[in-house]
Amino acid sequence: MAKSTKTARPSQQATWGGRFTSGPAELMLAFSESVSFDRRLAPFDIAGSKAHSAMLAHTGIITAAERDAIHAGLDAILAEIEAGKFKWDVKLEDVHMNIEQALTRRVPAAAKLHTARSRNDQVATDMRLYLKHACAQLSEKIAAAQRAILDAADAHADVLIPGYTHLQRAQPVYLAHHLFAWLEMLQRDRARLAETAARANWCPLGSGAIAGTTLPIDREFTARQLGFVDARGRPQVTQNSMDTVADRDLFTEFAHACALFGVHISRIAEDLILWSSAEFKFVELPDAFCTGSSLMPQKKNPDSCELLRGKSARLQGNLHTLLTLAKGLPLTYNRDLQEDKPPLFDSHDQAAICADVLAGTFTGLKMNRDKCAAAVADPALLATDLADYLVERGVPFREAHHAVGAVVRVAETLRVPLDKVPYDEIQSVHPAFEPDWTQVFDLKRAMQKRRGTGMPGPQQIKKQFARWEKLIAETRKGKNAK
Ligand code: ARG
Repeated sequence: MAKSTKTARPSQQATWGGRFTSGPAELMLAFSESVSFDRRLAPFDIAGSKAHSAMLAHTGIITAAERDAIHAGLDAILAEIEAGKFKWDVKLEDVHMNIEQALTRRVPAAAKLHTARSRNDQVATDMRLYLKHACAQLSEKIAAAQRAILDAADAHADVLIPGYTHLQRAQPVYLAHHLFAWLEMLQRDRARLAETAARANWCPLGSGAIAGTTLPIDREFTARQLGFVDARGRPQVTQNSMDTVADRDLFTEFAHACALFGVHISRIAEDLILWSSAEFKFVELPDAFCTGSSLMPQKKNPDSCELLRGKSARLQGNLHTLLTLAKGLPLTYNRDLQEDKPPLFDSHDQAAICADVLAGTFTGLKMNRDKCAAAVADPALLATDLADYLVERGVPFREAHHAVGAVVRVAETLRVPLDKVPYDEIQSVHPAFEPDWTQVFDLKRAMQKRRGTGMPGPQQIKKQFARWEKLIAETRKGKNAK
């Protein structure tokens, strides 16, 4: 008999089999099961069931003894799952039905657990609990990567490099300033995760399948049990039962936060790949995060960075999947929505390992001070400062810009560095140039002059070191990223 026509006995679907004369085809079971990936929701599902049954007892729908039996059974099942001893059954489709059926086999009162609840509000609750946890965990991992970047900045605090626009040398910056730019990007990622977690913090239970329940439940009680509370401990429950079971915005927001984090790490990785090439040689990446070539013995490839760049494509793909999944669906729940979990879980897992690898890559990173010093010694990097020199002597900026452009042309014609153009040549370009004009090329002095907030001068760098130390220490104390 073909696999597709074999069917399971209807009794095996005790949760909804009542109206069916035959069970689903084996092919349909294999096609429609989600337990292979949603079993990771088990701790959240069990927490939700404990809170729900506590509420049912609180409102007198079940007895205290029934609640206690349900709780003990759920605790035992969780212990088995954590020990890897629980037997998952794809015939029971998903994590929710696997746990409920196992409980019902052990505890008669479990037949009352699903009172005033549907898998629709159950899965919405599990996912909100999961997302709160995922946002906090990922934020901590990103903070650890920030810590590694800050340590690298600290170890090379005196190093100057050229900053680039259009991948052309533009102006000198402290390496720390470049690294702080990365910290800013990652800080925004953490802020986005904190915002997503805050929006996840509303309890769906009580929404039922679509239209709540006729039974006298207490939604606020359940919300409080599960920690869906505001800063003052007041319960937060979702406000529209139809939206609650249909909504997947949080999934998309989380995937978006991960995708944008992916874009950030991809840009960081790209800088490191460039900097580690023979053409730059600013940085030596740690052996532990590189590989060699099977053919060319001299090669050391920046694989961790390339994979960080590559994973960002995958994170964007997951976001796209979630956007497309929800876009054409009529209200409310549709089975399509089961497909929300693989991309979401994948974004979480991949973003988490990317954060770890980013931290690891920075931990063993060494800057090549000589190469950085040679690159930043190019006096052309201070051409803008030379224009500012003229501005300080009353020349309008446009005129100053034009004059310095002419000096650059002279230097190119004479084949000398910008600071070695003879004074008589420079005087003939613009009379406002005085004999002290070469002091502009004193790099230390040039950096000192960049004093304003957000600029790469040494006073600001010092302030930013203090700021980041504080921001990252706050993470450790468990405060959310702002
Ligand atoms: N496995 C399902 C999912 O993840 C659970 C919700 C099922 N609800 C339903 N009405 N069939 O979407």
